[in-house]
Amino acid sequence: MAFKFKIQSLGLLDIIRFKKLVPNRREKLAQGEDKPLPVSYRVNETAKILHPGFQKAKLIKIELNTEDTKTYTFETERPFYFRAGQYLTLGCNVDGSYVSRPYAISSAPEKGLNKELSLTIKKCGFFSGYLFDNAKPGDEFRIGDPSGEFCYEPIKDSKQVLAIAGGSGITPFYSMAQSIADGTSDFSLTIIYGAKTENDLIFKKELEALVCDKIKVVYVLSAEKKEGYEYGFIGAKIIKKYISGDFTVMMCGPQAMYEFVEKELAQFNLPIKRVKKEANCVGVRDVKDATYKITVHIGFEVKTIDAKATETVLTAMERAGINAPAKCRAGGCGFCHSRLVSGKYSIAGADKRRLADLKFGYIHPCCTYPDSDMEIVVPKA
Ligand code: FES
Repeated sequence: MAFKFKIQSLGLLDIIRFKKLVPNRREKLAQGEDKPLPVSYRVNETAKILHPGFQKAKLIKIELNTEDTKTYTFETERPFYFRAGQYLTLGCNVDGSYVSRPYAISSAPEKGLNKELSLTIKKCGFFSGYLFDNAKPGDEFRIGDPSGEFCYEPIKDSKQVLAIAGGSGITPFYSMAQSIADGTSDFSLTIIYGAKTENDLIFKKELEALVCDKIKVVYVLSAEKKEGYEYGFIGAKIIKKYISGDFTVMMCGPQAMYEFVEKELAQFNLPIKRVKKEANCVGVRDVKDATYKITVHIGFEVKTIDAKATETVLTAMERAGINAPAKCRAGGCGFCHSRLVSGKYSIAGADKRRLADLKFGYIHPCCTYPDSDMEIVVPKA
């Protein structure tokens, strides 16, 4: 069967352009400079300065906030660029082993650009307890780049944010309040802050100094009735009293608070994207004591270590002096992602692994407890 083609005039122009494509390109290339390309670009140099991976930080000040909480202020080697609400990994050698933990940053992002940042830490767990009892000005630490998504997102979030904080969970919200006050961030923040007693409130004086048309603070005490404070737990009745209309909820505090507040929030019918909560570090689990052997392949080394059934695989590696990678310690960042060769295990809380990780046998040692002897391949930190 014969086809008849009719050449359109515009189509003809396309053919002419196509024919000129190669000679035009050659001409442009011939006109280009013959200087070699730069080895690096300013944008990459700036990125390296702002996010070098890890850097040294010198402890310059310690302030006592409550009887079991202190704020540690560090001078960093380089400007520390972060968003209010983010955390970093702080680490140092303790008794010959490198130990690190993630902590939310309590200072304003603006200060970070002047090489200063603060972490507000409650005395609980091994490393936080070590800091509380032993850290002193002049000590040197290693800090990682800022991490985490627990930040105000102007495109996704409402202009009104309801911050629900419990205990030391006030830390990221204090950073956000400062960033609103200094003009770095632009949204309205209503903080509802729960603690047992007035003496357990961290940053009360500092938060009150920041109150303005964009920053409101409400205190809720669960173990004492006092004038000027709400009493009980943070529930729907208190929330309705202080905020209405469209708002994003951000929660940071203990797991028990999340469970209670989530039930209370049900009656607000908020879309999923309007509720964010900061993940908590995985701690010890309550099971019968047992000890297993874990064979760890890291770089060119192979080590066999003891691991308690109550502790995570990551904690066991750190206790044995293995410098395993870690950031969030909550199964969220994927930084500790390791390959399981053999062994049984349990995951703390919800399994946050991708389907591909499940299929190809990857685990997050930060939230994995051993249930038998194991063999794993861990990337170098
Ligand atoms: S340290 Fe973030 S997933 Fe394990």
